[in-house]
Amino acid sequence: MPAAQENTFTPALGKHWLTPFYDLSIALTTREQTWRKALVQLISPKPSEIILDIGCGTASLDIAIARIAPGVRITGIDPDPAILSIARHKVAKAGVNIAFVQDYGDALGRHFEINTVDKVFSGLMLHHVTVQTKRAIFQAAFDVLKPGGSLYIADFGEQKTPLSRTLFKTIQRLDGFETTQPNAEGVLPKLMEASGFQNVAEKQVIMTPVGSISLYYAEKPMDEAQIRDLDYTN
Ligand SMILES: C[S@@+](CC[C@H](N)C(=O)[O-])C[C@H]1O[C@@H](n2cnc3c(N)ncnc32)[C@H](O)[C@@H]1O
Repeated sequence: MPAAQENTFTPALGKHWLTPFYDLSIALTTREQTWRKALVQLISPKPSEIILDIGCGTASLDIAIARIAPGVRITGIDPDPAILSIARHKVAKAGVNIAFVQDYGDALGRHFEINTVDKVFSGLMLHHVTVQTKRAIFQAAFDVLKPGGSLYIADFGEQKTPLSRTLFKTIQRLDGFETTQPNAEGVLPKLMEASGFQNVAEKQVIMTPVGSISLYYAEKPMDEAQIRDLDYTN
């Protein structure tokens, strides 16, 4: 399995020195409560599920999930030691149980067995990486998910209107056009399908002052035994 296609990463706010201001900046610019709640509702976490968060940042989503589904086994993956340090402080303060792995999203195979994970999600990370790395991350997620497992993405997706394309320029100037423009042109669902996911759907589009955030859902197909054992009786 390919690991760490890019052995460097873009920090959460584009520059390392801005990382301590990440949570404040997201709260002020992205209608944070709206998209985070919508994503967590879509994930609908259950106690005892194994869930991975790729590009977990300061772990805001992981903490929300651990609070509503005590017993959930959640791991945040992020290559940035500085943001993981903030995440660990927040998790200790919240009194929840979350594991962290310092690594890249396309290196999941180093840490998790194939076909073992119930759900994989990612928030505002994929617009930071090249198309080659987006593809490698989807492939890595597909490999570790159980057959029938699901993928959830909240990120700047296809910018469908002139207004959202104009607003999104703020993010593009900050994070660079090479990694953000493919998202704006709608590449994410196509890459999910190319990685083998099925039932790929854009579930919601949330307008923000810096462009629209799309919530995407996709499934790893069930295996033959699961399909054979489907029970249609009530
Ligand atoms: C904008 S932040 C989003 C943080 C968090 N998911 C949230 O919802 O607030 C993007 C994060 O992706 C991480 N990141 C960048 N490149 C990555 C990669 N190749 N694999 C995994 N995480 C990456 C950054 O370190 C950063 O913490």
